[in-house]
Amino acid sequence: MSVKTIVKMGNAQLATPSLPVEDPTKPRREIGQLIEDLLDSMNDNGGVGIAAPQIGHNLRVIVFGFEVNARYPDKDSVPFTVLINPTFKTLSQEMVDGWEGCLSVPGLRGLVPRYQHIEYSGYDLKGQLITRVVDGFHARVLQHEYDHLDGILYPERITDMKCFGFEDELLRR
Ligand code: NI
Repeated sequence: MSVKTIVKMGNAQLATPSLPVEDPTKPRREIGQLIEDLLDSMNDNGGVGIAAPQIGHNLRVIVFGFEVNARYPDKDSVPFTVLINPTFKTLSQEMVDGWEGCLSVPGLRGLVPRYQHIEYSGYDLKGQLITRVVDGFHARVLQHEYDHLDGILYPERITDMKCFGFEDELLRR
């Protein structure tokens, strides 16, 4: 296990759709290794989530979760979760705006609309299917990480580019 370099916006891998993991019910050892690297890299950078393309693997694997997080100090905790081949569906058309950052877009924040109520599924490290109904920030984190697997970064989802900028400047508003 090790902390990997997180690639930044502009890197071609971040813009490339990722491939599903073959037989997620029996994850191979390399997938276990990848998940450890994702967790180490997320924790080392103080992130609330990370997706495999951010450390250079175009595979559909994400991890997320935190108890308390300095990057999002006012947010309720999200359980630590590993998802292989995640999917989600919206449970209502309601969308909410919220500020997001990304370890691949360091120093910046943007206001991004996301679905408020979703149900997501995916396989954990043991190959077991997880399904959860979530809302709010938990739903936001899932949608952000899921986008990475389709080669989408949050700045592409910002509707008002005046609500995109450097964290230290935005804090002075
Ligand atoms: Ni991100």
